[in-house]
Amino acid sequence: PRRIIIDTDPGQDDAVAILLALASPEEIEVLGITAVAGNVPLTLTARNARIVCELAGRPDIRVFAGCDRPLARPLVTAEHVHGRTGLDGPELPEPRMALEEAHAVDFIVETLRREAPGTVTLCPLGPLTNIATAFRRAPDIAERVAGIVLMGGAYFEVGNVTPAAEFNIHVDPEAADIVFRSGAPITVVPLDVTHRALVTPARNAAFRALGTPVGLAVAQMTEFFERFDKEKYGAEGAPLHDPCVIAYLLRPALFAGRHVNVEIETTSELTLGMTVADWWGVTDRAPNATFLGAVDAEGVFTLLTERLGRL
Ligand code: BDR
Ligand code: CA
Repeated sequence: PRRIIIDTDPGQDDAVAILLALASPEEIEVLGITAVAGNVPLTLTARNARIVCELAGRPDIRVFAGCDRPLARPLVTAEHVHGRTGLDGPELPEPRMALEEAHAVDFIVETLRREAPGTVTLCPLGPLTNIATAFRRAPDIAERVAGIVLMGGAYFEVGNVTPAAEFNIHVDPEAADIVFRSGAPITVVPLDVTHRALVTPARNAAFRALGTPVGLAVAQMTEFFERFDKEKYGAEGAPLHDPCVIAYLLRPALFAGRHVNVEIETTSELTLGMTVADWWGVTDRAPNATFLGAVDAEGVFTLLTERLGRL
């Protein structure tokens, strides 16, 4: 199986991504989950990650708490989307499994130094603070990662937190800048993809029809956080941003994109955190990321529902 570290700020869609990964042990081995501040503060994201592991019946997964604020700015959170706890919707018990004592950044550095080069994939689903801190502290690890498949940014869809920027990149643009300049092979799952992966009423009904605690919880989570996108954009249902990262690992053929240059805006107040992707190749800046732009949403939901049914 592909060995991954999930770096995350759960978040209902992060939760579904974690469930999808844990439901796919033949293809994916989760070495650990590292929590970061983002959708809600760190204490809650570290709590929510453990709640999700327990929901999946995997209290053995190691969960680490990481950075509690962006590198150079105050934390911006998204309770207006995800609710006060970040995981509003289902009634889930407080976690019993313990948080690891080590810091998430130390875990990332140690894992990449210990494992053979090119064997560990990083899957960031929130602001890139933990990953950038690890790269800054241990510059040798960037060339050891097999790849980084991250949810963040946008091209044609532009922004969801400001007119120009997507939430994960906007919250910590300095961190994103470090990661995009790191030289590690990056695949970006932007809003252009995730705004096409919507939980329609029929897809929600399919989760519920699984008749399991996981199916019910996922239906309730997406019902909660779709309210924001429905009101704001008239969307048909909740966009499953973060699960697309795991779906890409499982079925890359469901996605298409371009290898392009991506730079992060870190100074402009107007466009802070914008992912400036040279989609049309109008500069001679070297490509540093594969920017996905198309998705077979029906394929993603068929895969997701089938996998959730295994938990
Ligand atoms: C991203 O921001 C968060 O609210 C979601 O969990 C996702 O990672 C989408 O912009
Ligand atoms: Ca997230």
